Amino acid sequence: MTLHRKMARNLMITAIITVSGALYAAEPVQPIEPVKQVNLALAELGKKLYFDPRLSKSGFISCNSCHNLSMGGTDNLKTSIGHNWQQGPINAPTVLNSSMNVAQFWDGRAPDLKAQAGGPIANPGEMAFTHKLAVSVLESIPGYITDFKLVFGDDGIDIDKVTDAIAEFEKTLVTPNSPFDRWLLGDQQAINDQQLTGYQLFKNSGCAACHNGPAMGGTSFQKMGVVAPYHAKSPAQGLVAVTGKDADRFKFKVPTLRNVNMTYPYFHDGEAETLTEAVDVMGRLQLGKKFSEKENAQIVAFLNTLTGDQPSFQLPVLPPSSDNTPQPKPFD
Ligand code: HEC
Ligand code: HEC
Repeated sequence: MTLHRKMARNLMITAIITVSGALYAAEPVQPIEPVKQVNLALAELGKKLYFDPRLSKSGFISCNSCHNLSMGGTDNLKTSIGHNWQQGPINAPTVLNSSMNVAQFWDGRAPDLKAQAGGPIANPGEMAFTHKLAVSVLESIPGYITDFKLVFGDDGIDIDKVTDAIAEFEKTLVTPNSPFDRWLLGDQQAINDQQLTGYQLFKNSGCAACHNGPAMGGTSFQKMGVVAPYHAKSPAQGLVAVTGKDADRFKFKVPTLRNVNMTYPYFHDGEAETLTEAVDVMGRLQLGKKFSEKENAQIVAFLNTLTGDQPSFQLPVLPPSSDNTPQPKPFD
């Protein structure tokens, strides 16, 4: 091949790559990538811990109680129910795709999944245990002693290993292959006309200024009530709790819109019961825009295309307690 032809061929290849890359490079939303780079043994241990209610004082509440993986990683309640049927202060966000968040919690007070995972175990309103007690329960279970040793290569269980494992499992909870992602990747038939019009409205109205990237959220903290105030039913004030800055009052982590038709009810106080209501509130309070009934339905139709493949795996079989395992205290 002459140098000239070789250059021409390379140019052509570059052009083709650019064209296919441009299919979604120009869009504010990118497809969810299938999970890669997980430590399988660590994630498998994390899966057990995620489903194990013995990490709670009652022996009844697991991570899955409030982040039910059969229900989009949420509890579908306005606010969660914690130890002793306590009413939680805030809506439980989904754990699906949470590895893509800049920080965890509505106010971002945990920098990452590992830091987050210790929180609920020791939260008196959630699992109401202590890290020390949780570890002593695990240390009393022969099956866990073996598992931890196999995974970490040394003896002993501590909360650091527990949260490492749970965070690794959570990394696997991504939801690729939604109809919208298939459309982004070039399958024109993956969404219908109403859904496509809804996406254009979403984009052109300004929703994507905050709900962008692969998770369509999770990357920034934004004020709830930009154009008009939101009268929340929860005392939570958002990011100000972390930074102490007055300008951060009522700024919340922008929630992901992935799988949003499974993660009702909506907003940090769980006050919007339907997507129709959430879209109406967002239009008016964030953008100063009142959508017609038809436009609202188009945006909702688009939001329905964001549900991807849900995590699918075999339910873990938890190693049985031993005679030395501290007894659960469900009613204290
Ligand atoms: C009693 C219900 C309950 C239990 C049990 C619970 N959570 Fe949560 N979870 C919540 C609530 C409520 C929030 C939001 C709290 C906030 O933002 O202040 C939350 C937030 C999170 C987040 C942050 C998601 C985001 O987008 O910010 C992750 C991740 C998470 N929980 C994982 C876990 C794990 C792992 C466990 C088990 C160790 C667990 N949760 C146990 C209710 C619960
Ligand atoms: C200025 C940034 C911003 C803009 C623009 C914006 N949103 Fe939001 N969106 C947020 C924040 C912040 C929240 C969480 C508010 C809360 O819980 O108090 C949210 C929450 C939502 C929720 C609820 C998700 C859940 O799980 O609770 C939906 C649905 C939603 N937005 C859709 C839209 C649509 C549709 C548009 C355009 C009409 C839009 N958003 C425009 C920042 C924004």
